Amino acid sequence: MVCSEVVMNSKNDNIIWHDTQITKDDRAVRTMQKPCVLWFTGLSGSGKSTIANAVEKILYENGNFTYLLDGDNVRHGLNSDLSFDEKSRVENIRRVGEVSKLFVESGLIVLTAFISPFREDREMVRTLLEDGEFVEIFIDTPLEVCESRDPKGLYKKARAGEIKEFTGISSPYEKPKKVDIYIKNDNISIEKACEQIIDYMIKHSYIKWRED
Ligand code: ADX
Repeated sequence: MVCSEVVMNSKNDNIIWHDTQITKDDRAVRTMQKPCVLWFTGLSGSGKSTIANAVEKILYENGNFTYLLDGDNVRHGLNSDLSFDEKSRVENIRRVGEVSKLFVESGLIVLTAFISPFREDREMVRTLLEDGEFVEIFIDTPLEVCESRDPKGLYKKARAGEIKEFTGISSPYEKPKKVDIYIKNDNISIEKACEQIIDYMIKHSYIKWRED
């Protein structure tokens, strides 16, 4: 095992980075895909999880290797200690960014479905990864549409003041200024949204489409 000289952790000079013999590129050769993070951002109820799930199914059936990190699920485990104040949301995204980076290094295509309301945090995750590894997908569903769907009844509770700091109601959502994939999701079908994402992935050589 090679041990590089670079000290990565500024807080602790005694932690030294170990390079591994099998690299990210080796693993990508094995999985026959360009590992990346498909980072879905948007309001609660915007359709992030639904579209991410549908995209993952298509990728799976195409023979790709994937993993989906979903906000509600990750908050049941790894991030169960976090709430929804600003500091917790920043930490939520920092951890998910680091986990995504590890999964990318393992050769996977990672899909994440988190509100991730702060532009700066999403940009921070982009900087954790190499060029082209972070694909930001904005699911742009108007608040009124999310609120009328209200799949978990949370908007109703937020309006009644039963949930504090609810995104879009009493906590901000910062729309991306420039995204890799923009999906206006007020009338679009799940199939059309998936098509837009899969086309992008083929065009930018993240995957090869199997014709059989
Ligand atoms: S994030 O803002 O920190 O990125 P995350 O995506 O992990 O949020 O979790 C959002 C999900 O938690 C929502 O889809 C919703 O089901 C639930 N939730 C519970 N309380 C809140 C809240 N105050 N604001 C937004 N979502 C909430």
